[in-house]
Amino acid sequence: MGKQARAIVEISLKDLVKDLTKAYADEWLAFYLYWYMAQTVSGKMYGGVREALNKIAKDELEHAQELTDLIVKLGGTPLANPMELEKNANAPYMMPPKNTADINRIIRIVTEAEAEAIEVYNKLAKKTFGKDNVTYQLVTHILAEEVEHEEMFESLLER
Ligand SMILES: [Fe+2]
Ligand SMILES: [Fe+2]
Repeated sequence: MGKQARAIVEISLKDLVKDLTKAYADEWLAFYLYWYMAQTVSGKMYGGVREALNKIAKDELEHAQELTDLIVKLGGTPLANPMELEKNANAPYMMPPKNTADINRIIRIVTEAEAEAIEVYNKLAKKTFGKDNVTYQLVTHILAEEVEHEEMFESLLER
C-alpha cells in the first residue's frame, strides 16, 4: 500500500491490523473445524452435510487468504505460528462432536460459529465505514458470505 493509500485511512492502522488478525485467526479455526467435520461426519443423511461443510470450509480458507493479503498491504505481519491462532481468535475453538453421526450438533456448531462471524464482520464494517473504504469493501464481502453460510445451515436444521 502506497503513501497516499495509507494517508486516507482515518483509523489507526495498528488497531486495524489487530482486528484483521483476529478475524484471520477465526477463519483458520473455522476452516479447520468445518474441514475436519466434513471428513469425519457419518451416519444417515451425512452426504448433504459433508458437501455443505466442504463448501463453506473452502470459503473460510478464501477469507483467510483475503485477510492476509490486506494485513500485508496495511504493513502488518500475518501470524506465522499456527499455535498462535486460537489465542488471537475472537472466540475459542469449538470442538466437533465426539459422536460423528450427530448431525444436529454439527449444524448447531456451524450456525453458532457463523453467528459469531457475522457479529465480528458487522462490527468491522461499522468501524471502517467511510474511514477505510478498502477494508470496508472486504469485510462487507466476507460478511455477505457468512450470512449465506448461516442460512445454508439453518435451512439444514429445519429439514
Ligand atoms: Fe469466513
Ligand atoms: Fe462462514
